[in-house]
Amino acid sequence: MEKEYLTVALAKGRLARQSMELFQTIGIDCKEMQDKNTRKLIFSNEEKKMRFFLAKSPDVPTYVEYGAADIGIVGEDTILEEARNIYEVLDLGFGRCRMCVCGPAEAKELLLHQRQIRVASKYPKIAKDYFYNVKHQTPEIIKLNGSIELAPIVGLSDVIVDIVETGSTLKENGLSVLEEIVPLSARVVVNQVSMKMQNERITNLIRSLAEQIADEKIQEN
Ligand code: PRP
Repeated sequence: MEKEYLTVALAKGRLARQSMELFQTIGIDCKEMQDKNTRKLIFSNEEKKMRFFLAKSPDVPTYVEYGAADIGIVGEDTILEEARNIYEVLDLGFGRCRMCVCGPAEAKELLLHQRQIRVASKYPKIAKDYFYNVKHQTPEIIKLNGSIELAPIVGLSDVIVDIVETGSTLKENGLSVLEEIVPLSARVVVNQVSMKMQNERITNLIRSLAEQIADEKIQEN
């Protein structure tokens, strides 16, 4: 019987580029994907019987849960926010950043009390889980879709829950980290049925990726 394709969904952007570089180091490349002008969304490696496609990051766990992709590579922020039934199997170590509560320095005081505060975020589930379950506070959570740092500046919210990488967006807008929620990085996720049906193939692939990451870490030190 002809070997089936193993399908990998990648979160569009920097994560996808770093993921493909990693796949290349373990001998799996996809030349057509390197063409910067292409509008194609799905790419294949016929020899390895693998397909890669690019999706918006919040959609990656969805493709994987439904089995449209066997494997996904996406940030831990998206995995936590989407809360899909998928296996999280490997921390790739890149795309490192932090999910934080941020705001003007004066807002730190508000976080200490059971006061009614407003929190703006692109990640309402993560924000709610943190405030309700960790801090035992019940703020009003306002969902936004980007440029979250604007919210406390224009008075939409007291604080924000957002990703901090270098910290420069906060700094340039007079805001700072008030509390850290969780460290983040790129993760490999797997469809639960694929993990059973194609166990050997998927396990070998994950092992190769993990070994490559470990080797790179040794070389760094
Ligand atoms: C993300 C995040 C912060 C910024 C943090 O936004 O939401 O705004 O990056 O990075 P820094 O700490 O290195 O400054 P992104 O650029 O993805 O766009 P968005 O604001 O539209 O979500």
